[in-house]
Amino acid sequence: MIHQNRRQELLSQFDDNCVLIISTNPEQFRNGDVSFPFRPHSDFFYLTGFQEPEAVAVISKDSYCMFLRPKDPAREIWDGARVGLLEAPSVLNLDHAFDINQLEVELTQLIPAGHSVYFDAKPCELDSKLTKLLAQYNPTSLQMPLHEMRLIKEESEILTMQKAADISCAAHTLAMTQVSPNMFEYELQSVFDAHFAKNNTQHAYTPIVAGGKNGCILHYIDNNQVLKSGDLVLIDAGCELDYYASDITRTFPVSGQFSEPQKQIYQIVLDAQLAAIDSIKPGANIHKPHKIASDIIQQGLEALGLLSPKDCLSKFYMHGTGHWLGMDVHDVGKYQDNQQHRVFEKGMVTTVEPGIYIRKDAKIDPVYHNIGIRIEDDVLVTNEGNTVLTKNLIKTINDIETLMSQTNL
Ligand code: GLY
Ligand code: MN
Ligand code: MN
Repeated sequence: MIHQNRRQELLSQFDDNCVLIISTNPEQFRNGDVSFPFRPHSDFFYLTGFQEPEAVAVISKDSYCMFLRPKDPAREIWDGARVGLLEAPSVLNLDHAFDINQLEVELTQLIPAGHSVYFDAKPCELDSKLTKLLAQYNPTSLQMPLHEMRLIKEESEILTMQKAADISCAAHTLAMTQVSPNMFEYELQSVFDAHFAKNNTQHAYTPIVAGGKNGCILHYIDNNQVLKSGDLVLIDAGCELDYYASDITRTFPVSGQFSEPQKQIYQIVLDAQLAAIDSIKPGANIHKPHKIASDIIQQGLEALGLLSPKDCLSKFYMHGTGHWLGMDVHDVGKYQDNQQHRVFEKGMVTTVEPGIYIRKDAKIDPVYHNIGIRIEDDVLVTNEGNTVLTKNLIKTINDIETLMSQTNL
């Protein structure tokens, strides 16, 4: 029902004579005969609820059809059951199911003369085939209305995102309690691997477990170095539950105790993050959290003598403060309207993730070298302002040191 409602809402934004065509992701091969676990395309799953590969939905006001894989008893012994053409209409609420192998023959029959076609091609074989078949209709994109729908989360989506956030918060808490000096970064990652798997979830993105100087590498994913006492460890890890992502970063001391310079930098990032979160409410400009966080970081670094007013903040803070979060970790939805930053609306979910990264080559007091800190939470815009979905995870210096002193070493 939920998918049907979404299809209807989407169709209501087009004229009556429209046909929307949307395919799922291709299967991805890793090497040899090994494939990555299949994950449907978010747009496709959002509208259909169908989880098998090789499928194309054809949606219009008058009918809802799908091309999909037919039953194949020999293949199903290896890969598992398929819904198949006979069952698909009742399982997926279709008017008609077609064999995906008949796409070339049947697809254009489903497009009445004079109808406009909406289609967005992904870089994959199936979509190249669709692009050729649909060329005669000169299709236009359906992404804008679809992605605007996905940007505003429904109640059931928020519930799933809250569950995903809770699972990820628990994993980060476990990591704080289980880290110890001389552990490898991958051993600490295994806390997340195990906790996510136990909860029937998976990583929403490749996790970052970065000790010491590695915390200054924004997309560090090697996760294979030793965690040293005296260093911080930055962990950016979140699970995907039922195709909804969480995205959390915490930074804490490997030994359980922050050094004074680490505390100074951490507190600036935390102050920036809390103030940025505070600014999120319906009607507020979405650029505001970044402006607020950047100003606090600039002032904090200037107060410590690490930055002068003429220095560029991007030396130490070189990324944005947030992004939309949903079925994709960097979720869909525009950031601007008519070249102006848009405003927050109820039901949007954004991350808030300021950071400071001081590499060794920075010409400042070496006590600050190799400090990389980011704090990231997931924030839902509500009628009243916002709710932090990841509020169950501690982040003050005192709370972190207290928890770690009770449980580590
Ligand atoms: N974990 C991806 C990001 O924070 O954008
Ligand atoms: Mn993020
Ligand atoms: Mn992240």
